[in-house]
Amino acid sequence: MTANTESDRVLIFDTTLRDGEQCPGASMNLGEKLQVAQALARLKVDIIEAGFPVASPGDFEAVKQIAQTVKGPRIAGLARCVDKDIEVAAEAVAPAGDRGRIHVFLATSAIHREHKLRKAKAEIIKAAVAGVKKAKGFVEDVQFSPEDASRTELDFLVEVTEAVIDAGATTINIPDTVGYAIPEEFGRCIAYLKEHVRNIDQAVIHVHCHNDLGLAVANSLEAVRNGARGVECTINGIGERAGNCSLEEIVMALRTRKDAYGELWTGIHTPEIYRTSRLVSQLTGLHVQRNKAIVGANAFAHESGIHQDGMLKERSTYEIMNPEDIGLTTGSELVLGKHSGRHAFREHIQELGFTLEGERLQQAYDDFISLADKKKHIYDDDLIAILQQHLEVVRGAYVLNYLHVSTGNITVPTATVRLEKDGELLEDAACGDGPVDAALNTIERITQVSATLTDFALQSITTGKDAQGEVTVTVRFEDGSLLTGKASSTDIVEAGAKAYLNCINRFLAKADQA
Ligand code: KIV
Ligand code: ZN
Repeated sequence: MTANTESDRVLIFDTTLRDGEQCPGASMNLGEKLQVAQALARLKVDIIEAGFPVASPGDFEAVKQIAQTVKGPRIAGLARCVDKDIEVAAEAVAPAGDRGRIHVFLATSAIHREHKLRKAKAEIIKAAVAGVKKAKGFVEDVQFSPEDASRTELDFLVEVTEAVIDAGATTINIPDTVGYAIPEEFGRCIAYLKEHVRNIDQAVIHVHCHNDLGLAVANSLEAVRNGARGVECTINGIGERAGNCSLEEIVMALRTRKDAYGELWTGIHTPEIYRTSRLVSQLTGLHVQRNKAIVGANAFAHESGIHQDGMLKERSTYEIMNPEDIGLTTGSELVLGKHSGRHAFREHIQELGFTLEGERLQQAYDDFISLADKKKHIYDDDLIAILQQHLEVVRGAYVLNYLHVSTGNITVPTATVRLEKDGELLEDAACGDGPVDAALNTIERITQVSATLTDFALQSITTGKDAQGEVTVTVRFEDGSLLTGKASSTDIVEAGAKAYLNCINRFLAKADQA
């Protein structure tokens, strides 16, 4: 076995909090983003792209607080090649000190130049160079992305890349913005840049692939085979449209197929993968499909008799990775029970990566005790579901205080709901087509926020008859925005009501920030 060398290292640039969060319905609040950033640090990603600071005050605050509190990875903020964007990004990443990175981007393809930017090639180069120089005035670590690079003429891509490296860019990121590339061609593009960009030895090449054709991971693998040394990716592959390259897939592919990828390696602490995937799914409300590679519920399940027989005789007959390598252990059952004290509870949630103090810790503990009263086994997923509800107590948020539903096959389903908002109790009742509909109608009457439920999905988060039901709702608001909310309870009507309220609170918080 040979030792890992720095030249074979593939840097993992995680953009879950920026490109991932751009995914419809996936928005996270400040507390949630901080938890994800801490989890990414435990996973040992090299760079966290924490947001697009100029996009909103919420984005700015998130990048700034992540830069202030998260130790280890570099912290990047995105900016267009526009002075204001770069100044705001610089201010947001400043608390990270020399771990701060500004990531500037500008589209280079003919389609974008002609139709979106209406700029000639020379103007694009001028703006890109000016953007990099401006960023360089604030930080040493500047990344440049020629947006839609995979549809850009190769000779122009070389020209832009040379110019921005001369201007001080130390990372050149090649995005396949619309997921159009195919592996062989994308690999050739990277090889071409390595060969033709005069000063390429002064920068690291990253790639940023979208998954519109389901090829994001394959394209990224081909890119690293051809000399890229950074992969931009997201947990669970979430992101714009069909998503981005999935972090867990690229990392495990490189690790499992060392025979094919030579000595390439990443610094990812893989036993944190499963937990981080669950956390991101919980906080964004975006389900991981059961058959998703690496982290899907079926990824390590063997159903057919032939496979089970083979597994019993020799695991490697049907298993190419150990579940333990991604942190999947059968012993993830919580050793705490309803008699556990607050101290043990606090220690366990810290191991899960959550930091709650004071009143929030007490409320989460109270919820844990009441769940332990109803449910025999409590799993880490049960706990994450509880903790999610206590990450940020947003002022002005509605909290479910009481819910009663009356339903049956010949009664009109009716719900009585009491909500608490800043200490005030608000109560009403309404009917509906079913108990969930009645509860949601009542919430709409109380909050006076009109919204349309576009999706309601129920999943059991752990096992057993007393498992918590996890409800994910997607709601469209009058301004056209689409938000996803998630909540869990052993009672699915209550989970539905809480998930719906979660969306309403996010909508109100967003409206407040605008
Ligand atoms: O997909 C893309 O081109 C991007 C850039 C901002 C890197 O997300
Ligand atoms: Zn992207």
